Amino acid sequence: MSGAGMAGMAGVGGAGAGAGGASTSPMCKTTPQTLKEAGACSGRLIGTALAASHLNEAQYQTTAKEFSYATPENEMKWGSVEPSQGAFNWTAADQIVSFAKTNGMKVKGHNLVWHSQLPGWVSGLGTADQVRSAMVNHITQVMGHYKGNSTVVAWDVVNEAWENDGSKLRDSPFSSKLGTGFIDEAFKAARAADSSVKLYYNDFRADGMNAKANSIYAMVKSMVERGIPIDGVGLQMHTGTPNPPSTPADVLQNLQRITALGLEVVISEMDSHVCDGLTSADQKQYYHDIVAACVAVPMCTAITFWGASDKYSWLNSFNETNCAGKDPSGCLWDANWMKKPAYNGVLDALQGK
Ligand code: XIL
Repeated sequence: MSGAGMAGMAGVGGAGAGAGGASTSPMCKTTPQTLKEAGACSGRLIGTALAASHLNEAQYQTTAKEFSYATPENEMKWGSVEPSQGAFNWTAADQIVSFAKTNGMKVKGHNLVWHSQLPGWVSGLGTADQVRSAMVNHITQVMGHYKGNSTVVAWDVVNEAWENDGSKLRDSPFSSKLGTGFIDEAFKAARAADSSVKLYYNDFRADGMNAKANSIYAMVKSMVERGIPIDGVGLQMHTGTPNPPSTPADVLQNLQRITALGLEVVISEMDSHVCDGLTSADQKQYYHDIVAACVAVPMCTAITFWGASDKYSWLNSFNETNCAGKDPSGCLWDANWMKKPAYNGVLDALQGK
C-alpha cells in the first residue's frame, strides 16, 4: 500500500470537497467535533459497524456517537435472523436498530443474500423452486420487519456474489440453483418488500479499477438498463493483503463511472490494516485520500468504517497472509479508544482539507 497504493493520489485529495453541495443539516458545524458533524457539511452519512454484544459498554457507546450511520456487523445476516426455516429471531438486530434510533443514526441493513454465514438448511434445499421461495421469503420477512421505521434506510440486498478475480459469480446455493438471474430476482423481491429504502449491491476487492470492479460495473449497468431496481453499489474497502489496496485515483475513477449510471455509491466497510508494514502516517494518508475521493463525488453518499476501535476489529482474527500473528491495527481508534492519526486524516478529508 505504501508503494503502489500511495501512487496516483495526486489530484484526489480535497479537490472536490463539498461537491455534494453545502448542507443545511443542523449537524454541520463550523468546527466539527465528530466525524458525523464533518460528514454532515457535505451531506454524507458517516458510519460504523455495530455489534449488539458491545452496546452496553461506555466507551463503545461514546465512540458510536461519532457516527450518523450504522451497519449491524453480524446481527442481520441470514444465520442470525433465520437460523431455521421460517423461524425468525430479531433480538440482536432490533437492539442495534433501537440503539441507532435513540442516537439519531440511520441503519443500513446487512445483508439479505450472501453465500457466507448462511445456515445449513439453505444449502440443503434440493430444488430451484425451494431456494427461490426461501430467498424471496427471507427478503420479504426481514425487510418487512423494519419497513416504515425510518431508521433502516438502505439494504445490502446481495453481498459478495462475484469471485475474487471477477471472472464469474461465486458458487452458492443461489447461483447453483437459480443461475446468474438470482441477483435480479433478489432485487425485485426487495423492491416489492419495501419501495422506500435504498437497495445496494455490496462487494470487496472491487474498490478501484480492476477486473472484479469491471465485472460488477458491467453487471449493475445491465441492471440499470433492464430496469432492475437497484439504487447503488457498496465498495467495502477492506484494504491490505489479501485485498490489494486500490490507488485513491482508481477508486475515484470507479466511483465516477458507477455514479455516471445514475447510481449511488457508498464506501461500505472500510478498514486498512498495517500488517504489510505501513506506518501510521501511511495509514492516515490512505484513509484521507479514500475519504477525499468519496467527498469529490456528489453521489458517493456514505462512508462506513468496519468498526471504530481496534479493540473489537474483525481483523484481529483475520489470519490471512501477512496478518497471521500480527496486530492489524486497521481502525480509526486504537485498542485503548484513543484516536489514531488516521482519524484526523478522515476528519480533514471530510472538511475538504
Ligand atoms: C465479518 C464480521 O466483521 C465478523 O465478525 C464475522 O465473523 C465475519 O463477517 N464482508 C462483509 C461483512 O460483508 O459482513 C464481514 O463481516 C466482513 C467482510
